[in-house]
Amino acid sequence: MSVDGFVTVAKVGEIPPGGRKIVRIDDQTVAVFRLDDGYYAIEDVCTHDGGPVAEGPLEGDIIECPRHGAKFNVKTGAVVAMPATSPVPTYTVRIQGDDIQVGWA
Ligand code: FES
Repeated sequence: MSVDGFVTVAKVGEIPPGGRKIVRIDDQTVAVFRLDDGYYAIEDVCTHDGGPVAEGPLEGDIIECPRHGAKFNVKTGAVVAMPATSPVPTYTVRIQGDDIQVGWA
């Protein structure tokens, strides 16, 4: 449920450094990553062929789709390696008290 445009997806401390949590919001799958400088969220649907991109290996800021190896920057959604050519959607993440929240207008 969205409160002032944000949805709580995890508690602070629940996602370890370099870790991720994959959640369902409405009928979409969203992955929240904890990077060195904060939390970032992308839609967990590869723009190449719909693969579960966030289930692949993460190296620094870069996630690799486990299906055919496309790579995306988790912070910006930008493609950094083919075969994908379109960016993945990103979402605003904020910390509110003990909650990690994703912007969900
Ligand atoms: S579905 Fe992700 S690289 Fe093909």
